[in-house]
Parts: sequence; structure tokens; C-alpha cells
Amino acid sequence: MCGIVAYAGHKPSQRILVEGIKRLEYRGYDSAGLAVIQDGKLALQRAAGRISSLEEILDETTAGGTVGIAHTRWATHGAPTTSNAHPHLDDTGRIALVHNGIIENYAALKTWLQSQGKHFSSQTDSEVLVNLISFLYHGNLVDAVQKALKEVEGTYGIAVISSHHPDTIVAARKGSPLLVGVGENEHIVASDAAAIVEHTTQAVYLEDGEMVVITPDAFRTLTLDNITVDKELENIEFSLQQIELGGYDHFMLKEIFEQPTSLENTLRGRIDLQAGRAILGGLENVKEQLAQVKRIIIIACGTAWHAGLVGEFLLEELARIPTEVEYASEFRYRNPIIEPGTVVIAISQSGETADTLAALSEAKDRGALALGVVNVVGSTIAREADAGIYLHCGPEIGVASTKAFTSQLAVLTLLAIYLGRRRSLDQDQAQRLLQSLTEMPARIKNVLCLSDQIRKVAESCLGCDNWLFLGRGYNYPLALEGALKLKEISYIHAEGLPAAEMKHGPIALINKGMPTVFIASSGSQYEKVISNIEEVRARGGMVLAVATENDTRIQRHAEAVFTIPDVPEPLSPLLVAVPLQLLAYHCAVGRGCAVDKPRNLAKSVTVE
Ligand code: F6R
Repeated sequence: MCGIVAYAGHKPSQRILVEGIKRLEYRGYDSAGLAVIQDGKLALQRAAGRISSLEEILDETTAGGTVGIAHTRWATHGAPTTSNAHPHLDDTGRIALVHNGIIENYAALKTWLQSQGKHFSSQTDSEVLVNLISFLYHGNLVDAVQKALKEVEGTYGIAVISSHHPDTIVAARKGSPLLVGVGENEHIVASDAAAIVEHTTQAVYLEDGEMVVITPDAFRTLTLDNITVDKELENIEFSLQQIELGGYDHFMLKEIFEQPTSLENTLRGRIDLQAGRAILGGLENVKEQLAQVKRIIIIACGTAWHAGLVGEFLLEELARIPTEVEYASEFRYRNPIIEPGTVVIAISQSGETADTLAALSEAKDRGALALGVVNVVGSTIAREADAGIYLHCGPEIGVASTKAFTSQLAVLTLLAIYLGRRRSLDQDQAQRLLQSLTEMPARIKNVLCLSDQIRKVAESCLGCDNWLFLGRGYNYPLALEGALKLKEISYIHAEGLPAAEMKHGPIALINKGMPTVFIASSGSQYEKVISNIEEVRARGGMVLAVATENDTRIQRHAEAVFTIPDVPEPLSPLLVAVPLQLLAYHCAVGRGCAVDKPRNLAKSVTVE
């Protein structure tokens, strides 16, 4: 959510900054801007809209500076206009700031600063912060930033430059990620490694409450109390190739098609087939506590929450541990009961989702063992958790989560087997599931061949504005996920429901030609799903079904059938996900939507 890039080096910074924020555009894309120190002065260029709009107006004004900051925005305070775009200048025009996060006490600070004679030209909380820094500036920029940050409530990742200190950038974080790329005679601060990896793979990750001061030739990490912090250089683990389109039209499609590989990476080294055990090294230091677990609470948002719902089925069936799944945003505010033996698992692709992070901290404060199921290595949730399991599915750039979802399902399956084998799950059953899990990448490859068929079906439904997605058991969460995918990228209204719930109200929605996607893969509830299908057909609804190969009956009940291989029921969500992702993708493309940058959305929701 919003992207920051700041460069101090010896090269002209304009291109580096723009290329950097382009790599972060999936995090926010309603306005963009940059500020550089040029000829000893601050030069600023900003534009509403995509970064391409900024590129159109860029000229000599900012072309020469070798120190600068840039931002791509997802609006929180103030409309996405040019005057609300970052960077923001203080009212003397000598200090510029880019900011991710929210300054919660900005209104009070603004009133006070106005009473001290400060002037404002935007509606943003960020402009308040730069004016506060300016008010507190008496010749030492680091000192002014430190003092200002002690006054603010809320979250921030910031980078600040000033024409008073032309070769210096001051950056700081609290609740919004920042890292420093350490190159040869250049340093780059960014909110995401994707903006850095082109220049260097050596980086230092800032923790909450830490700052960094960079110049072209040096960097110093410190606290808000000006105490130097020695930090290790870490290696950025992904390559440039992983964050480029590589011939695909969209990142979402690339990531859907990457799933055989991303899943292989998730599973690598974690399956001991002979023993029928899952190997989860990230849980080693808490294995004694896990042996005592009495109850599991999964906290997550959106797609990760849907993975959590599948996790509930897996953990209860395979490990026989009572499991609940909570929206992180609700959990954190409802005085949750955490008893001894409670394990809380936060699932998050980004590892930065504000609600999930806050819920995890709440759970820890109440004494729960906190586990993370996270993709981004070194992210805040990964660091906050007592232990955890990385997804290792590679960077996910498409705003709609796809490959992270299937990797989350795989990790939850491994976790259920890991815990189950320490309880009642027998070796044979575990071996069968693990064997099938190892075959899953190849099976997904087969399912991807459905893409053309699904595109044709999607094209025949483009005029339909309301869809239903229905499933039961393990695949009820997949119905929710199918509906979420469709609505977030194609803006078609869709609802996902447990199939049997339909007749308790939503069946009233069904009219002639309304697409209803049934997940009717083989399993314990197949017959019941067929009955639900008939209820829809009797009312003129158009049935599309995801079903198992060799199901000869389903064709009679559905207008179109997307077939997936037959696998043990607990693993079927891994395959069902794929046609649902493709269906959403092809509908969005058919309707001319910006698949990777859906309106009003951004990757990684770092505000409440
Ligand atoms: C939907 C989607 C979101 C995220 C949610 C949580 O396609 O991507 O619903 O799943 O915002 O994000 P993470 O997993 O980063 O915590």
C-alpha cells in the first residue's frame, strides 16, 4: 500500500526513482511523484493517476539531481489529486517527505502548526508531518525528524530530504516496512525489495522504531534516541526475472501459471514420504509447546482468510485439534479468550497486513503461541511470530492473490499432517496425502490446460452482472475465494456460499441465465451438491461446474464443466482454486479491466 523509493548516489536519480516506483506500482497507483535536490534546491514533480502520467510530465526540472525521493500512492487522506500526491514539501520549500502509513493525530498537530504560522496546501496527514519536521528543524535534519516522530501517533515509513543537506536522506519506520539497499557508492531506501534488486541484492531491513541516514557513500542505522544500531547485511532472495512479466500479459496470469513451480518450491524438503511425516524446520524451536496445543485460532484477511477456512477443515480432520478462523480485523477488537494451549496462526502473503499484524500482537500479549504462515521473508509478521512456515512461492505482484493462496493451502496441509502425526493420524493416511501432495504440481499443470475453455465460457457470460459460487465442505471456502477473485478484478457482483445455505435466502436471487458456479468435485458431499445444482436449474440459473475427471453424470446437470483430476478430498481445494482463478481472470480481461491494478485496491493493506 503506497511505495517509497529514495536514492542517494552519483548517478542522475530521476530514472532510477521512476523505475523503482514502477516496480512498486502494484502497491498503489492513484498518483505519483518525485523530488530531487538539483542545483542545491528542491525540485518537485507530481501527477495524479498512474506512474505513466508522471512520466509524461517529467522534464529537466528533476533530471539532474543525484539524491531524491519518490512515491506511488494509494490514497488514505485526501483524494488522489496532484496536490495530495507525494512528495510533500514543508511551507518553506526546503524539506520534502514521502510517507506510507497514517498519522492518526494529524488533525490536532495541523491545528497547532497552523497556530504557529505554518501553511498547508493539501488534505493529507503526510504534509502535517513534513511541516512538523520543518518546525522542529534548527540546522540538524536527523534531530528534527527524531523529534517530530516522537510527537506522532500512527504508522509510518518515511524518507526525507532537504536542500539544507543536499547529499543526505533520512528514513524511518514504524509499522510500515523499509529496507536499505547497499550498493557501490550508492544507497537506496525502499518499502519493498522489488525496487532495489535491480541495483543490489545486499540490504539492511529496518525494524520498527529504527531510522537510517544515507549518503552516496555511507549509511548509519540508529534509533529515534540517536543510538547507533549495528545491523547485518542480508541477501535479497529473489531475482529481477521473478518480478517481471516474462511474456505474459499480466502478472496475475503469470502467477496462475507459475503455480506448479511455486508449489514445488513450497513443498521442497518438507516431505518425508517414507516416515509419512512433514518436516517443518521453522517450528523446531516451539515443538514442545506444539505438542501441548489444545486449540488453534487462525487469523487472516481476504484470500488468506479463505485459506484459513480450508485450514480449519484440515486441522480438525487430520490433527483433531479444535480450530477457529477469525477475520484479523475483528479478532483484535473483541477481547478474545486465549487460554493456555492456544496457538494463534497468522496467515499473510505480504507479512505486512496491518489488521493481521495487530491481531497477532494482541494474541501474543494475551499469552498465545504465535505462528506465522507468511510469504515475504523478513516481513513484519514473520519477525513478530514466535515461529512459522514460509510459503517460498516467490514474489506475488498481481494484486489478486493466486499462487500465494495455493501455497498457503499446501503449508496448512503440511502443518495438519505435522501435528496430526504427533496425535492420531496414522502413517498410512499421512503417506497417502503426502504422496498426493508431491503429485500436485503436475496435476495443476494439467488443470492449467483448461485456460482456453474457461476463456470461451467467460466470454459468453460477460453480460452477466451477478454470479453465485457454491461449494460444500472443504470446497465451501473455495466458493468464497472464487467469488472474491471475480469481484475484485472484474467488478462483477459475486457471492460465495456454502451450497446448502442457498435455500435459506440467496436462492431468491436466481433468475434466468444467472451464472452459478458449483464446486462439485468428488467427495463425501457430491450427491448433496448435485441436489443443490438441480435447485438452481429448476429456477433457470446457468450452472457452471468444477468437477472431477471421469464424472459422467455432471455433464447432464451443467452448461459447462471444468474438470480436475481426482485427488483425496482434503487436497481438492488446491486444484479447484485454479479454474476459479482463470475464470475471474478471463472475465476481467473480457470486460477490459486493469487486471493487475483493480480500481480502489492495492497489494498489501498496511492501514486499518
Ligand atoms: C485478494 C487479496 C487480498 C489479500 C488480503 C490479505 O486477492 O489478495 O484479499 O489476501 O489483503 O493480504 P496478505 O495475505 O498479504 O495478508
